[in-house]
Amino acid sequence: MNDIPAPIPSTYKIRPATEHDMPQINGIVNHEIAVSVNNFNYGPRSEQDGLAWFRATIAGGYPIFVATSTVEGGAEEVVAGYSSLGSFRQKDGYRFTAEYSLYIHHEHRQRGLGKRLLKDLLIEAKLRNFHAIIGSISEGNEASVHLAKSFGFRVVGTMKDNGFKFNRW
Ligand SMILES: CC(C)(COP(=O)(O)OP(=O)(O)OC[C@H]1O[C@@H](n2cnc3c(N)ncnc32)[C@H](O)[C@@H]1OP(=O)(O)O)[C@@H](O)C(=O)NCCC(=O)NCCS
Repeated sequence: MNDIPAPIPSTYKIRPATEHDMPQINGIVNHEIAVSVNNFNYGPRSEQDGLAWFRATIAGGYPIFVATSTVEGGAEEVVAGYSSLGSFRQKDGYRFTAEYSLYIHHEHRQRGLGKRLLKDLLIEAKLRNFHAIIGSISEGNEASVHLAKSFGFRVVGTMKDNGFKFNRW
């Protein structure tokens, strides 16, 4: 990783994700797995597992959005972040509840993308008739708490000592 920030693209676009976005989505998730407790996996998600996650999410009736940018002069579309919904719990009665995921590439943070991706996700959640959306946020993730609260999420409980990573609970 170098310290040069990503060039600020003139525009970011939000659109539904496709399978072609998965390598870049995986890159964002795998960076977060390596450096933080915002994802409690220990090792990187393989390309195959990423694709399986994508297909199961879409087949389950849940949306996935990406924020993309094209840097001036660059041909390639860069995935700067994604948001998605997924199953909260599998039992029938929870089918109107979903849990959200939101990851912004570390070089594209604090440019309003988290806000835009979460906003579009919550609009889509309403269109798909979800009744309750859950966010599970790890201790110390103040940016996420701030963002969630700004969309009207409330703290409804704290689960203590249920995740173990980097040699601590
Ligand atoms: C949390 C995260 C999604 C925020 O994305 P982002 O694009 O940087 O957020 P935005 O630029 O849209 O900012 C949203 C708000 O959070 C605030 N914020 C963002 N990063 C912040 C930080 N590091 N510390 C304090 N506040 C922060 C912004 O100031 C803004 O506040 P405002 O609405 O009062 O102006 C991003 O940091 C991230 O991907 N983190 C790692 C993965 C993660 O934690 N996912 C969520 C798990 S539930």
